Amino acid sequence: MPIKILMVCLGNICRSPLAEGILASKLPKEKFIVDSAGTGPWHIGRQPDERSIAIAKKNKLDISGQKGRQFSTTDFEVFDYIYVMDSSNYKDVVRLTNNKEHKTKVQLILNELFPNENVDVPDPYYGVENGFETVYQMLDETCDIIAKKLIEKHP
Ligand code: 4NP
Repeated sequence: MPIKILMVCLGNICRSPLAEGILASKLPKEKFIVDSAGTGPWHIGRQPDERSIAIAKKNKLDISGQKGRQFSTTDFEVFDYIYVMDSSNYKDVVRLTNNKEHKTKVQLILNELFPNENVDVPDPYYGVENGFETVYQMLDETCDIIAKKLIEKHP
């Protein structure tokens, strides 16, 4: 059985599609499945934001085939690891379950890079173009650490 990792943000069009594409590119496909979802319903079925597609492309990743979906409580059963982009996503996801084991699957993604600091991946949706560059770099660094740990833990 492959190990399953879910990336979660608010809209599932800016940050989590990038996190999905970046982490998937660092893991062997036969052992790991990476997906993403949004806590909100607004962009179900849509492609990632064009600015996320562009920054991914600049870094040789194609995320244009992804489709937005909303986080669902069955994701707690399906996924082994659930990484959220910010503390608001954390609250929105964790309040959907009373199960302690499910709650412990949910982690702030930048805590891998900055342990215990609870730093948010800033939402670049309403921001300037280079917000996406910053988000990409943060996610790339933290996904390097995540990929290394996952490969060690699930050889
Ligand atoms: P994301 O950014 O959570 O990184 O996908 C957002 C995209 C869309 C909206 C909010 C955040 N929205 O409100 O439509």
